[in-house]
Amino acid sequence: MPTQEKKQETKPTFYLTTPIYYVNARPHLGHTYTTVAADTLARWKRMRGYDVLFLTGTDEHGQKIERSAAKAGKTPQEFAAEVSSEFRGLWDRMGLTYDDYIRTTEPRHKRGVQHLFSEMQKRGFIYKGTYSGQYCVSDELYVEGPPGTPCPDCGRITETVSEENYFFKLSAFERKLLEHYEQHPDFIRPEARRNEVVSFVQGGLRDLSISRTSFNWGIPVPGDEKHVIYVWMDALANYITALGYGSEDPAQRANFEKYWPSDVQLLGKEISRFHCVYWPAFLMAAGLPLPKSFMVHGWLLFEQSKMSKSRGNIVRAETVLDVLGADALRYFLLRDVTFGQDGSFSFDALVQRYNADLANGYGNLVSRTLAMIAKYFDGVVPEPRRFLLENPDSPDTSDPDPWPVSFTVFAYCKMQISVIGAHLDALRFSEALSESSALMAAVDSYLTNMTPWNFAAWRGRPDLPVEKLEKFRAEILYCAAESIRIITALVYPVIPEAATKVWRQLGLGDIAKADLKDLKWGDLPPGTKLGELSAVFPRAEKEAIERMQKMEEDRQSQTSADQEAASEQAALRQAKTSGPAEQPPPPHVPEPFSATGLSPEQEADAVAQQADANRQESAVSAVSDPLPPPQPLVEPVTPAVPPEPKIGIEDFAKVELRVAIVRVAERVPKADRLLRLEVDLGYEQRQIVAGIAGAYTPESLIGRKVVIVANLAPRKLRGLESNGMIVAASVGEKGKPVLAGFLEDVEIGARLK
Ligand code: ME8
Ligand code: MG
Repeated sequence: MPTQEKKQETKPTFYLTTPIYYVNARPHLGHTYTTVAADTLARWKRMRGYDVLFLTGTDEHGQKIERSAAKAGKTPQEFAAEVSSEFRGLWDRMGLTYDDYIRTTEPRHKRGVQHLFSEMQKRGFIYKGTYSGQYCVSDELYVEGPPGTPCPDCGRITETVSEENYFFKLSAFERKLLEHYEQHPDFIRPEARRNEVVSFVQGGLRDLSISRTSFNWGIPVPGDEKHVIYVWMDALANYITALGYGSEDPAQRANFEKYWPSDVQLLGKEISRFHCVYWPAFLMAAGLPLPKSFMVHGWLLFEQSKMSKSRGNIVRAETVLDVLGADALRYFLLRDVTFGQDGSFSFDALVQRYNADLANGYGNLVSRTLAMIAKYFDGVVPEPRRFLLENPDSPDTSDPDPWPVSFTVFAYCKMQISVIGAHLDALRFSEALSESSALMAAVDSYLTNMTPWNFAAWRGRPDLPVEKLEKFRAEILYCAAESIRIITALVYPVIPEAATKVWRQLGLGDIAKADLKDLKWGDLPPGTKLGELSAVFPRAEKEAIERMQKMEEDRQSQTSADQEAASEQAALRQAKTSGPAEQPPPPHVPEPFSATGLSPEQEADAVAQQADANRQESAVSAVSDPLPPPQPLVEPVTPAVPPEPKIGIEDFAKVELRVAIVRVAERVPKADRLLRLEVDLGYEQRQIVAGIAGAYTPESLIGRKVVIVANLAPRKLRGLESNGMIVAASVGEKGKPVLAGFLEDVEIGARLK
């Protein structure tokens, strides 16, 4: 007779992922942002009793990585391993609690991707054909349109590829996807992103090329090794290969059975199409269940544009960690940026938020309360009225004497436990933290109003007996301490280091071992002996901002020096191995070249004024030392005829003048005279910041051919990297710029000699 198996109490599972980051660039705050959000959610879910699997990792294949490695003079393996360990090292330094870290160069991943490919093929969703069209290497994206079409995502000119490829029958999933979106309203959050995806699919889906033959840094197509699998198919599969998908061994596959489908997959909005269209279609084609939900967040902006390596406006997490610590960074990212929307990072805002919410808010409330318990009760948590410990439904009115409004504090705590919990469940981090701040503020004013340090004249009742007053004081301080315990548990997923310290100061030991699943009022036992007290968030001084800015500046000059050295080495290596360059334009390395498009005087001016502007933005508050109003960024200088010595032809030959076409032009916010241009040299596309907005509208420049100085040293203006200078005549008293041009048609990339 079969025996009835005893039902084991199992925890519900929760599987969450971040994108796996490209290893072409070192981690910056943008990557940290997603990973911190995931870590917070993972901690929150663990605290609520879930069996959590939190996955992150790195995306290491594809043409983009292959090229970055070559530029750095390394093999793709070496290069990928180095950058991947930087990501991992940063996450470890920040104490992030990922449970698994996948690298797409691992055997478990290769095996899984090949298995997925074969499954899709077996089910008839893969066929061979010829792809002839455009491809953006930077976004690893197929783009429709004729040669010369810019990438719709990044604006770079696409490359033309013509190859025999494997195709995926994406078109077969149009209806199924739309049905799925319809039936699962929470499949893609927030709503705005969901609508974008739905209308993209409604616009019609074309089959997708899923292999390449012109390079080989990737996973070979099973049975047809000259093809490598399209890097996005390779990358997306990480979410199941990390769980052992594709393994023959049931033990290795156990996590797949246990955790798939994923509960929440986090990603930035620029990659929603890959995640919310291609990924589910691949899974359907392989007969696998779909993820339960995608949470698509916005961009972290720095100096008004998306923080990204290609724009050159990145900030490294390390800078903030060194000065303010991980909790400050986590708190800022989750509090100041509404999850799902774009939000700006600045050192100024970071320090303001830190001081307001963490130093003056939480830190101050904790030290004030615990110091009073130390002073009046010898460091032992006092006892409130009994009824207060029992989660009362209404205030106790049986006592004729006036009592502190402790019931209100209790009721507010009780409410916030569910309000903040609901926000965290829904990934509304900013709202959760604003509610926790509100609770801290309420407890703080409770203390301020009740004045437990001055009972002599308490509420105008000096006639009350001393013992009664002592009881009031005990109750007030108990309620404040218990509120702090509750607040601390609720913010633990966001600021784990500080919460851990406070928990110990409350005398409660290791918070990691505490059972916080059913957080409720009254669980702080009266009589608990406080731990050793110390400040949790010391106030940050104004100088902290300057230190962080300086660290970033130093890092940037260090990076460009490193890049120059690396590309020189790579060029040397190439010269040794392959002799003279095969192609007409010399192999160009985009990063090292840069300029502002301004005359040297204008540049110096602009740089100085930028520094001024930085200082101004950095003022912690407007109270002290007001600064003069900002100057217009660039004042054109009156042309003079300087008595300069003549130069030889070899000097002129040092200046690399080339023809380029403007593909993208836009104003630089808060800089009246600057335009940000993306110009195309035929063999590469680059960004130039030019002081010509006074004379040209952005629209009038798009498609126009210009002459640029292509080999100027890198410059940054308003945080934007400028890779070259536009040649213009300086006309009239005011030095109005007039762009150089040609009467005949000239090819882009052509050199002026
Ligand atoms: O796209 N603001 O990798 P990636 C917010 N390998 N988030 C940002 C950000 C910013 N300024 N910058 C980066 C790839 N991120 C692929 C993914 S997944 C199967 C393959 C975060 O290195 C955000 O999560 O370009 C974004 O989606 C991701 O990093 C892109 O990282
Ligand atoms: Mg990207």
